Amino acid sequence: MNAANPAKNPIGVFDSGVGGLSVLHEIRRELPGEDLLYVADSGHAPYGDKSTQLIEARVIAIVEFLLSQRAKAIVVACNTATGVAIQMLRARFPVPIIAMEPAVKPAAAHTQSGVIGVLATSRTIASNNFAKLHERFGADVKILMQACPGLVEQVEAGNLSGDKTRALIEQYVLPLLEQRADTIVLGCTHYPFLAPLISEIAGPTVAIIDPSPAIARELRRRLATANLLSTVSRAGTERFWSSAAPDRAQTIISQLWQVDVEVHSLPNDATVDAATRSRAPL
Ligand code: DGL
Repeated sequence: MNAANPAKNPIGVFDSGVGGLSVLHEIRRELPGEDLLYVADSGHAPYGDKSTQLIEARVIAIVEFLLSQRAKAIVVACNTATGVAIQMLRARFPVPIIAMEPAVKPAAAHTQSGVIGVLATSRTIASNNFAKLHERFGADVKILMQACPGLVEQVEAGNLSGDKTRALIEQYVLPLLEQRADTIVLGCTHYPFLAPLISEIAGPTVAIIDPSPAIARELRRRLATANLLSTVSRAGTERFWSSAAPDRAQTIISQLWQVDVEVHSLPNDATVDAATRSRAPL
């Protein structure tokens, strides 16, 4: 930490992979002067099919790394990690931690047909947070939860519009339309990169809702409350780390960030990985 002025320190953002870059785009839009750190745990994506112990160990190691880089706040740009580990992270680390919240509330306010679809990973749909959303909004609107196995992998591979990606989206979206959903919530941070294709398949009358802009606004509020908003009047910087093979990470992150960026290997990754794998086999 910059003890004299912690507001000058960067914001740490992470995801199981490259999906959280969709959140990072919105944070950059909302907070142009902040320095941003991003960790893609692509070497372990998707989190959805990993054990709770492995996900917890990964997110602890990543948050510790971001704090070692002087992060003043953490954004968990991953719905799956939020569902599995948010209470544990907040209890363990005394910095503002902002997490994903599926945009069911705005979707419920927007729908005309009274039916909304939520696209997410199986793990997120099975989480307590989602069960609570059902309790809160399920009486007013019909919420169709659609698990989307395979979509995270397509985005990790940079395949945003190929035949396989299209076939998967048709498989997940068409049943929602048949049940009269007119509003679709993107409940996984990888999916905004597929929004053009989802929208094309769903048609112009279906609204696609991405929670990321609201998360970026929440981050601004939390930083303001803690007196941690940067007052520096220059453009913020971004630094990237990944646990995937460096060449692959460089290519996919540059593709999705739309700028050629340097991606560093996440330090100590192999050590953490070996330790957690031996304790928590998949
Ligand atoms: N981007 C992550 C999310 O928002 C993907 C989850 C996963 O790796 O399973 O849920």
